[in-house]
Amino acid sequence: MDLLRFTTAGSVDDGKSTLIGRLLFDSKLIFEDQLQEIERTSKRRGEDGLNLALLTDGLRAEREQNITIDVAYRYFATPRRKFIIADTPGHEQYTRNMVTGASTADLAVILIDARKGVSRQSKRHASISSLLQIPHIVVCVNKMDLVEYSRDRFEEIVQEFEEFAGKLEVEDITFIPISALKGDNIVNKTENMPWYKGSTLMYHLEHVNIASDKNLVDFRFPVQYVIRPHQDFRGFAGRIVSGVIRPGEEIMVLPSRLTSTVRSIVTMNGELEEASAGVSVVMTIEDDIDISRGDMIVRKKNVPQVASKFDAFFCWMNPKSMEVDRQYMLMHSTRAVKAYARDIIYRLNVDTLHREKNGTLELNDIGRVEFETSQPLYFDPYKNNRGAGSFIVIDPATNVTVGAGMIRSAVVEETTQPAIKQKKSPDVVWHEWNIPREVREERNGHKAAVLWLTGLSASGKSTIARELEKKIYQKGCRTMLLDGDQVRHGLCSDLGFSDYDRTENIRRVAETARLFFEHGNIVICTFISPFQSDRDFARSLLPDGRFFEIYVDCDIETARTRDPKGLYERAIKGEIKNFTGISSPYEKPAKPELILNSKNYKPEELVDILYEELYSNQILT
Ligand code: ADX
Repeated sequence: MDLLRFTTAGSVDDGKSTLIGRLLFDSKLIFEDQLQEIERTSKRRGEDGLNLALLTDGLRAEREQNITIDVAYRYFATPRRKFIIADTPGHEQYTRNMVTGASTADLAVILIDARKGVSRQSKRHASISSLLQIPHIVVCVNKMDLVEYSRDRFEEIVQEFEEFAGKLEVEDITFIPISALKGDNIVNKTENMPWYKGSTLMYHLEHVNIASDKNLVDFRFPVQYVIRPHQDFRGFAGRIVSGVIRPGEEIMVLPSRLTSTVRSIVTMNGELEEASAGVSVVMTIEDDIDISRGDMIVRKKNVPQVASKFDAFFCWMNPKSMEVDRQYMLMHSTRAVKAYARDIIYRLNVDTLHREKNGTLELNDIGRVEFETSQPLYFDPYKNNRGAGSFIVIDPATNVTVGAGMIRSAVVEETTQPAIKQKKSPDVVWHEWNIPREVREERNGHKAAVLWLTGLSASGKSTIARELEKKIYQKGCRTMLLDGDQVRHGLCSDLGFSDYDRTENIRRVAETARLFFEHGNIVICTFISPFQSDRDFARSLLPDGRFFEIYVDCDIETARTRDPKGLYERAIKGEIKNFTGISSPYEKPAKPELILNSKNYKPEELVDILYEELYSNQILT
């Protein structure tokens, strides 16, 4: 049976406790003794009928003491589904409770009093739900009995709410007219509003499709414990945050980046053929590599972002305001690292959605904050992966949770200092290559060379390079392909796109190309490399006749219409800074060895031209 987690927010006045009581009562989920107790208390207080709010208020008193975050979790089940309600007190200052209650919710129930209409608080609840990317929202327009079950009033409220929600990123909103007190449209369909054709709240809760909300693409398995009962067994225990895994699949361990293959997935009930998000398992792998608590196991071909600087939406939950540059502890998956808030970019006014700049966050504020951690985190943007994109912050002095965050993305530093160019220690002595390149070339049957493809983003560099590499590899050539998008995930992951960073990027890549060149390879490099001086530097590392500067010529309009990664679009909107061709220059090669016109020719044709070039220059014979 599947599980739906939902959150409710609102004050007793909105009828929230009554609503929950009614859900349980009409579904016959109340125990006999509870019912008698409620009857007695209602009578004692002189209330006519059952005060269902007493049910939840009673439960509330039972909940755990000493918790700093005031969220009550309730559980119930119907034959179709299990439910967990995260019930948060609804005073508008209690953003932190809503954030806590909503962080794992599949659905949010927002209560609106039909007489009062859309309140500040319902807006606040909606914006927090959207910030937390809760996939489904149900707006219950309550107390319909007090507005004569008026269709017009209901539609007015729907319209008002939709206007506000239009500014938010909410995918699925359902509106239901109800009366929690009278039981209209909670579990049983009412006869008081024949004009309403939709389902009851309970029917909706039982049937809303949540299976497709899960992230089953990005496999993320933070290791909680290493289990070693005896010499012959070593397993890694934890809960799969997202994605799916099967025995036999190739995995990578972060931070070491060592790779192996899944041998088995073990649970209390035996071995699994497949395990997916939400399940706790023990994984064993084929190779004896070093893995410890806090490491993350991912698929080899789907690695999360690794960074120690990132930008997040962050909710501050402590009466003492947040301090920039103070040391906090940050908990992300199974890891705890030291962390500093480096910049509070803005504070979000949750009522108006305006961004305010005031340099700090107070209790219940939400803002965009840049964090820096003492060690890199392995994460996905919260938007793609709620589990791997959220974190909490703890005050190390008191051990109290002071905030919760949702990661937007890694921050790449733009260096403003020139990169250290070839500054080597005076104590390193140059050693001749062990096996001379000529000897390697002799054996390989071809010469080594560096083919340097330069041009705008989306000009076709990578496509041409990949085809060419396949072609010459099949001929038996030794090859290496160095591509901007790949190198920037590892060797150059610390670099951004300022002029200095690009120069450093090209310096590193050129040096790398040279190493592969000396190893006898035909090295194909695809980098925008917008500056002539950087390309000249690459050329300077190689003997004459072995460096080919190849200009992949494609005008910016054509590149823009291709735009496979949607980057031009974002650059034009100003979301990406220093974008080549839009907000950063591109210097066309002054004297390229070859120009490939990718606007008028197909990639295959250009690959053939390049291939011929290798023959006419005797790289291939
Ligand atoms: S280079 O200028 O330093 O040579 P490189 O080729 O490594 O750039 O990386 C270019 C790739 O990074 C592009 O294909 C694109 O996917 C991505 N990219 C992200 N931001 C930018 C930007 N501001 N300018 C250019 N490319 C960017």
